[in-house]
Amino acid sequence: MSRDSAPLADPAIADAADAGANVSPPVPQPPGTVYLVGAGPGDPELLTLKAHRLLRQCDALVYDSLVPKAVLDLVPAGCERHFVGKRRGHHSVPQPSTNAVLVELAGRLGTIVRLKGGDPFLFGRGGEEAAHLAARGIPVQVVPGVTAGIAAPAYAGIPVTHRKAGSSVTFVTGHEEIDKGRAGVDWRGLARSSDGLVIYMGLHNLARIVAELVAGGLAPATPAAVIQQGTVRGQRSLVATLADLAERVEAEGFASPSIVVIGEVVNQRVPLCAPEPADVTMPIPF
Ligand SMILES: C[S@@+](CC[C@H](N)C(=O)[O-])C[C@H]1O[C@@H](n2cnc3c(N)ncnc32)[C@H](O)[C@@H]1O
Repeated sequence: MSRDSAPLADPAIADAADAGANVSPPVPQPPGTVYLVGAGPGDPELLTLKAHRLLRQCDALVYDSLVPKAVLDLVPAGCERHFVGKRRGHHSVPQPSTNAVLVELAGRLGTIVRLKGGDPFLFGRGGEEAAHLAARGIPVQVVPGVTAGIAAPAYAGIPVTHRKAGSSVTFVTGHEEIDKGRAGVDWRGLARSSDGLVIYMGLHNLARIVAELVAGGLAPATPAAVIQQGTVRGQRSLVATLADLAERVEAEGFASPSIVVIGEVVNQRVPLCAPEPADVTMPIPF
């Protein structure tokens, strides 16, 4: 495995990057390489060839929820596995602890795969982990993945853009506590500025999101869809209008992980083009 050049560790930069987070132990040189790998949305056939290759040869795997066992089992028998996600009844492993695990592994092993659902840089904290490692001189590379926001609608036959449905789409999180230091999403502004919306983690706040979008000028008759467990066993979806979306989601018991699509693209769906979901289950975090 080739080692990529990386900036030398600079304690001042590392300290600044941490800004209050746990300080990680010094790394013996030369460290291994950490690959921030996108696992895709669930269907193992949506893994990239690069992700597949790295999984087959890694010395350590650091993973969280929303990755099927079939993908985790690609790693070699002797590979160290570290789960850092949310377990039933428990909180997620705090980000500084995950960072520390990656630093420790990089000091001892050659190829570390940090596997994340979908794409690591899209609502996946991949950017934070990359910065943490780079600031310590640890070689790190991102391996983009197929994001759920494109794949889950596709597996319901919904194209996220269409020439008949406008020319813009916005990927947005409905989980607004991700960074309490910043203002929340400007849903009223998005109602006016984006033709389509793909909302991650949107179910919990759905009624409020819909109310804000309508207040921002989006017609209550705007088509919308929800796709739960996209691309894997148990996938299901509904199509509604903005006006009845939240009520339908509640009545039909939709749950995480789900993607919400809002906009005229929903009317452009072609159910016949939707692939069969893969026959694998995905551990769901609660
Ligand atoms: C923390 S975000 C991670 C997104 C991921 N990095 C990506 O690019 O897909 C988790 C959210 O992604 C969405 N999600 C992930 N996998 C999904 C799937 N198979 N079907 C539907 N939604 C999914 C859900 O909204 C879930 O709450």
